[in-house]
Amino acid sequence: MKEIQKNKGAVYCNLGAWERLSETIKKINPSKIFVLTDTNTKVLCLSLFMTNFDFSEQVVVLEINEGEINKNIETCLGLWNQLSEKRADRNSLLINLGGGVVTDLGGFVASTFKRGISFINIPTTLLSMVDASVGGKNGVDLGVLKNQIGIINNPEITLIDTEFLKTLPINQLNSGYAEMLKHGIIHSEEYWNEVKDFDITDIKNIEDTLWKSVLIKNVVITKDPLEKGIRKTLNFGHTLGHAIESYFIKNKGVKTLMHGEAVAIGMILASYISNKTTGLSKTTTEDITKNILKSFSKTSFSQKDIENIISLLIYDKKNNNGKILFVLLNEIGNCKLNCEVPNNLILEAFKFYKNYK
Ligand SMILES: NC(=O)c1ccc[n+]([C@@H]2O[C@H](COP(=O)([O-])OP(=O)(O)OC[C@H]3O[C@@H](n4cnc5c(N)ncnc54)[C@H](O)[C@@H]3O)[C@@H](O)[C@H]2O)c1
Ligand SMILES: [Zn+2]
Repeated sequence: MKEIQKNKGAVYCNLGAWERLSETIKKINPSKIFVLTDTNTKVLCLSLFMTNFDFSEQVVVLEINEGEINKNIETCLGLWNQLSEKRADRNSLLINLGGGVVTDLGGFVASTFKRGISFINIPTTLLSMVDASVGGKNGVDLGVLKNQIGIINNPEITLIDTEFLKTLPINQLNSGYAEMLKHGIIHSEEYWNEVKDFDITDIKNIEDTLWKSVLIKNVVITKDPLEKGIRKTLNFGHTLGHAIESYFIKNKGVKTLMHGEAVAIGMILASYISNKTTGLSKTTTEDITKNILKSFSKTSFSQKDIENIISLLIYDKKNNNGKILFVLLNEIGNCKLNCEVPNNLILEAFKFYKNYK
């Protein structure tokens, strides 16, 4: 069985995982069980959950509207009210059944309701399986600014069942694939070579590669749960990625980009900047760029888009005292943290991205 054992925050994948869920719930012995879904996972994932869940008849289902746009404090308020009306108490349990929006927001709602009730993550997107549902970061956006309000608190357990991926659209699979590519880039040549050649639509054979990603994330967060050092490597591509994502949320008319798509662009830009400043070789920069563009078609940015994106960088959570700090690369598997990058180099990186063939 694929498992990461911990007192709090254990992860179980596929064979035997639902049995572990039952054992965990028996141990917690909750007074009530709530399941948080979004409008899609209620339709597409709840029945698989109910079929495998030994306590189905006790479940109270909650639902939020799908999408990043709803990952905000108003949605939390709605849920806190519902929990209160439905008589949740301090021994109630919240199970988050959904993608990163449901696990991030549900984890935050649970961690704050009556000063904290237990929660369990059952991720249903690839992105939430390999990244969002592991590591205990929970929270919501503030306006368009990503993840500004939140808390670090682990779920009791995370249960991964790759069956859920069968209904996930290809662009959403790709979004999660970006985080797997990131794990390869920050961790090792070996995993990078495996993941860059993996066909992400091959759900039947995804388990082993997906699990390696989970293990990489787990090693990093276990060494540095509070993001003082090495955990920052997980933000590779995210400084510009988050700014790009925020910019397109704000300007819905321009284009909609998913988290992973924005991060994919951010990783190409960060690789170019690494080539210019931290010694990443030209060959590796090309290797990263070429392989990312195999799965992610290019987005075009006007000069005004780029200026607005750069002005959003100031809100990045890694910043210190007004300085915008990037995670860059010396080579695959070897990151340099807290790098200051001048704006002209960011502009150059966008030019590199635009002209890359
Ligand atoms: N906490 C962390 O460490 C961490 C790490 C990475 C990303 N994140 C956050 O995760 C979020 C992105 O996660 P996401 O990409 O899962 O987004 P998401 O939760 O919005 O899911 C994407 C879409 O897929 C739908 N969906 C979910 N499961 C499905 C299924 N099995 N079949 C069909 N449709 C399904 C959802 O309803 C939604 O429309 C962002 O808010 C990001 O900031 C958090
Ligand atoms: Zn991410």
